[in-house]
Amino acid sequence: MKLSLSTQPLNTQAKEGWIVFVQNKKPLLTGKNPLKTLLSNQIKKSNFSGDFAQTAVFPGFGKVKAGHIILAGLGKGDAFRIETLERAAAAAIRAGKKAGLTGFATESAAGLKGVSETAFAHSVGRGAAWGSYSFDEFKTTKKKRGAEPSLVFAGPCKNAAACRRALAEAQVESEALLSTADLANLPGNFATPQKIANWSKKMAKETGLTCSVLNKTDLKKQKCNALLSVAAGSDTDAKIITLKHKGSDPKANPVVLVGKTITFDSGGLSLKSGKNMQWMQFDKCGGMAVLAAMNMVARLKPKASVIGILTVAENMPSGGASRPGDIVKSRSGKTIEILNTDAEGRLALCDALDLALTHKPAAIVDLATLTGAVIMALGHTAAAIVGNNHRFNQKLIKAAENGGERLWELPLWQEHKEDIKGTFADLQNISKSGTAGTITAGAFLSEFVPDNVPWAHIDIAGTAWEETPKAWMAPGVTLFGARTLIEWIKGMDIGNE
Ligand code: BES
Ligand code: MN
Ligand code: ZN
Repeated sequence: MKLSLSTQPLNTQAKEGWIVFVQNKKPLLTGKNPLKTLLSNQIKKSNFSGDFAQTAVFPGFGKVKAGHIILAGLGKGDAFRIETLERAAAAAIRAGKKAGLTGFATESAAGLKGVSETAFAHSVGRGAAWGSYSFDEFKTTKKKRGAEPSLVFAGPCKNAAACRRALAEAQVESEALLSTADLANLPGNFATPQKIANWSKKMAKETGLTCSVLNKTDLKKQKCNALLSVAAGSDTDAKIITLKHKGSDPKANPVVLVGKTITFDSGGLSLKSGKNMQWMQFDKCGGMAVLAAMNMVARLKPKASVIGILTVAENMPSGGASRPGDIVKSRSGKTIEILNTDAEGRLALCDALDLALTHKPAAIVDLATLTGAVIMALGHTAAAIVGNNHRFNQKLIKAAENGGERLWELPLWQEHKEDIKGTFADLQNISKSGTAGTITAGAFLSEFVPDNVPWAHIDIAGTAWEETPKAWMAPGVTLFGARTLIEWIKGMDIGNE
């Protein structure tokens, strides 16, 4: 999606489609625009209610310079969040694309209360790009990819330079999201650990990050036995991929992003049922969000140093697989009883968290499709955040809000930590009580991070992908978390998380 700015008003833009947002049933257009009454009348006659992400495509009938007008509902003002705008923009493009349109324009400021013109440009620009995406690599009947779609933000804005910067940022972030989605949407037989390593190296080379990969022998030397135990039943080896961005102050401590990257989660010997195993190619989405965020970091070059770590393995059953009851010694030295081989994410993560500490991090954030329990707690609209520092959690929650994502904090109490103490080893990988699944998984991870390092764990099991088409996106990965991470990093002072 090509995003650009024009100081000429919308009325002068000869385009295939004009996007007009609708809030409280009113089209958001500034100034004396003849479209206002035209559209208001159209809306009254149609069954378009302006609900969130509802769209309607009207022909321009030669009365305006647009072939079509796409209405995009923002719902009522009281429920508005920046996420609403990003998704409505995506929905508008999806509707336009279905109608065969590729050249779009929308009004820059659009008179949306409480949203700055730069936030508007950023959110609408990124949403538009996301709405244009679908994963169709394996459709043999797929249509030829036509011209790259474009969106012009038209009309005067208070600070054109700032708007251009916001659009350029949206452009970079969108390109990172779309290119990573092409990898993340690949199924388990294509997105192998080796493939992800190769992809990461190539991306790093193209964008100026450094990339190093630990293979099986390196992982053995590093005593990453918890991670290795996850891959023990697989024909493909585990890996740890590290990507680095050097900030402007080389002495400042980096922030480290850690992503669970299970290329397929069968459950191992604690085999999942057929229904629960479906979609488990997306158990790599924590790592995919980190990869997208690192791509953005590489090109936006924030002041802070940022390190991304992907802990990669495939969880399969075989004669070599870990058995329930097995005990492993993690990189940290803590021993773990593997009571359920399907609680593999925390095993892969604990070694990566310990490795993260070697970088003397200012803060650590991990992202993981870790527990089905988070879907019980929050459904598919928000991810859970659990950590060792309430203030730090709040910072990330705020970043998520600005980034169009939702995080909800869950507590982490002493009782939860007791719940994952082992019988024969230091820890066990499932709780004794069988309750508070998302929190106890977080409690397990907290054992690998000292209290004085701000650390947050984000459980994206409910938000990492869409299984059916939505108004704002085609089925597939959402890369949930990447938008939060980049928002947080952009707003950060050096060496101070
Ligand atoms: N990858 C799954 C969690 C998951 C479930 C992600 C559904 C997305 C959708 C994870 O490895 C897992 O299997 N967790 C178990 C933990 C349990 C054994 C303590 C779960 O949630 O059932
Ligand atoms: Mn599992
Ligand atoms: Zn898993």
